[in-house]
Amino acid sequence: MTAPPSAPSWAIEPVGPLHGDVRISGSKNAVSKLMVAALLADGASTIANAPRLSDVEITAGMLRSVGAEVVIEEDRVVIDAGTLAESRIPVSYSGLNRMPILLVGPLLHRIGEAFVPFVGGDRIGARPVDLHVDALRQFGAEVELTDQGLEAKAVKLHGARIRLNWPSVGATETVLLTAVQAEGRTVLENAAVEPEVVELALFLQRMGARIELQPDRRFVIEGVPHLAGAPQRLGGDRIEAFSYMVAGLATGGSVRITGCAQERLVTAITTLQRMGASFEITDDSITATADHLRSCAVRTSPHPGFMTDWQPPLVVLCTRAHGMSVVHETIFEDRLGYIDALQRMKAEVELFEQCLVGDPCRFQETGARHSALVRGVSPLQGAEVEMPDIRAAFAYLIAAAAADSPSILHGVHHLERGYDQVFDKFSELGLGIRQLDS
Ligand code: EPZ
Repeated sequence: MTAPPSAPSWAIEPVGPLHGDVRISGSKNAVSKLMVAALLADGASTIANAPRLSDVEITAGMLRSVGAEVVIEEDRVVIDAGTLAESRIPVSYSGLNRMPILLVGPLLHRIGEAFVPFVGGDRIGARPVDLHVDALRQFGAEVELTDQGLEAKAVKLHGARIRLNWPSVGATETVLLTAVQAEGRTVLENAAVEPEVVELALFLQRMGARIELQPDRRFVIEGVPHLAGAPQRLGGDRIEAFSYMVAGLATGGSVRITGCAQERLVTAITTLQRMGASFEITDDSITATADHLRSCAVRTSPHPGFMTDWQPPLVVLCTRAHGMSVVHETIFEDRLGYIDALQRMKAEVELFEQCLVGDPCRFQETGARHSALVRGVSPLQGAEVEMPDIRAAFAYLIAAAAADSPSILHGVHHLERGYDQVFDKFSELGLGIRQLDS
């Protein structure tokens, strides 16, 4: 069964426990970054195991707008930037995803100037780009913020010593994408070391970059004058993997995932084990089952901690666990905004401004409601809800599957931006899922 290409709303009919196999796709948060990196080469790069997402199409459109050739065939993306001619990303790409700011470094290297429109992405916090801009200036770029986006110029970029005041994934990627061809050495301290960041670094190394990762969150990069196109197969999406395992557990069933390495899921597995889940782990697959789920206390944090993108499915799972769970979100200040719809589904969740698990975080005393108390087990009822962002969208889908009555989910484009063939994968797990005419 295949969902029509653009599905605005779905009707969900819960069927009880979801069981079955899910093949996890390549990582959403790596594929677009590798596509941007491919602009640094004057030959073709091939990315295999790419997820089929609208986010990939959006990024491909941006690359084509500056003259790159991009071909997407099934799960392969081929990018040839030998034909790069333009330095300006059209403002029509404003607000669609986080890629525009990452394009600045590569465009400066290739063309000497860049215009990128304002970045978008999910509305889960303020998400400024100050760390990106500061880093670009330290490489010697002239950067000006206008009312439409960011203008940058550079005759030559040179290596820099940069310390991030927070290990931002995006700012680390901006530094990597700029340092690899900047003249001399760059040292980046307090860098993000998420698997998707390392995946980008490995791809750049294949292209000919000289990158070293030290154990203390430090990248040391020696700039090289030339990078060549390279092939890379993407690793499995750890967010998708966790989400499907939780979909199985939350409905009282069991999902076996393949295509995502255990090493990407260590903290997720440990957290679910503490909640009472059992795991069968082989070289090829991971299966989670649970007879009785217990409450948990979880604080999101940069890798290798419990990742923020796992938080919305976890909160839904907490409604199925016996006792009072506590979740403290420390990465994005507004990432619990999706809770109101879960409350309408009768989830017993309360939000707090205080830092409720572990050390106080950056959002202490900011007024941001970034901790949640979740009482379980609370029976969930179906509802009609609007999905606000990618990860909350999947959490609502899990809640709808675990509810005792049907739901209608609007805003399916969020799911299509972030998850490969989610309609088909849930259908194969047995969920009653139907496209509604707009
Ligand atoms: C990436 O976002 C991911 N997006 C996010 O996934 C993920 O949640 C996040 O990293 C954290 O792991 C993509 O890879 C496309 P950050 P990014 O820079 O790079 C602050 C999803 O659903 N910050 O690590 O934007 C920022 O406000 C998405 O797939 C600054 O203050 O995240 C936030 O509080 C959602 N100034 C924190 O750092 C800056 O210049 C972490 O942001 C940059 C960031």
